[in-house]
Amino acid sequence: MIKEINDITYLNNLSDYKITLNSFNKVIGYYIDNKIVGFLDYSVMYEKIEINYIFVINEYRRKNIAYSLIEYVINNYDFENITLEVNVNNINAINLYKKLGFKVIGIRKKYYDGVDGYLMEVKNDYFSN
Ligand SMILES: CC(C)(COP(=O)(O)OP(=O)(O)OC[C@H]1O[C@@H](n2cnc3c(N)ncnc32)[C@H](O)[C@@H]1OP(=O)(O)O)[C@@H](O)C(=O)NCCC(=O)NCCS
Repeated sequence: MIKEINDITYLNNLSDYKITLNSFNKVIGYYIDNKIVGFLDYSVMYEKIEINYIFVINEYRRKNIAYSLIEYVINNYDFENITLEVNVNNINAINLYKKLGFKVIGIRKKYYDGVDGYLMEVKNDYFSN
């Protein structure tokens, strides 16, 4: 089950990533037996959505959970495009985003502590064909 999370205390202990909530940010969690096993932090800025971070607990990986979290956003918003930045070495995440239709549209030089990042995007049109 996927639902919105308002109390982020637990999430901030799950991974090194620290969520900061503001009026654009939202966090959804993937629940199995009332336990959060993955989450997606994203921002909705009018017609644009930005994926800030996605995380799935190790033992629950490769079960389509990350895919379902992003698919939830795709299905529940009227957006023009969704963008994100990803470390060029994070092959698992890059594969995930490509599977969902994202394309590399730019390189962010030294975005991650000296390592380049890819700027990736998927446009709404991709899902209407
Ligand atoms: C990246 C991450 C969120 C993927 O979560 P997940 O729930 O395991 O991913 P899914 O099961 O939904 O996988 C969907 C697709 O992603 C790709 N993928 C995911 N894990 C992969 C792996 N270990 N190796 C290769 N491809 C992988 C595959 O294309 C996969 O589709 P397939 O299973 O049909 O081949 C997870 O590995 C994670 O939490 N990593 C640490 C945090 C992180 O790097 N977040 C991204 C920051 S930008």
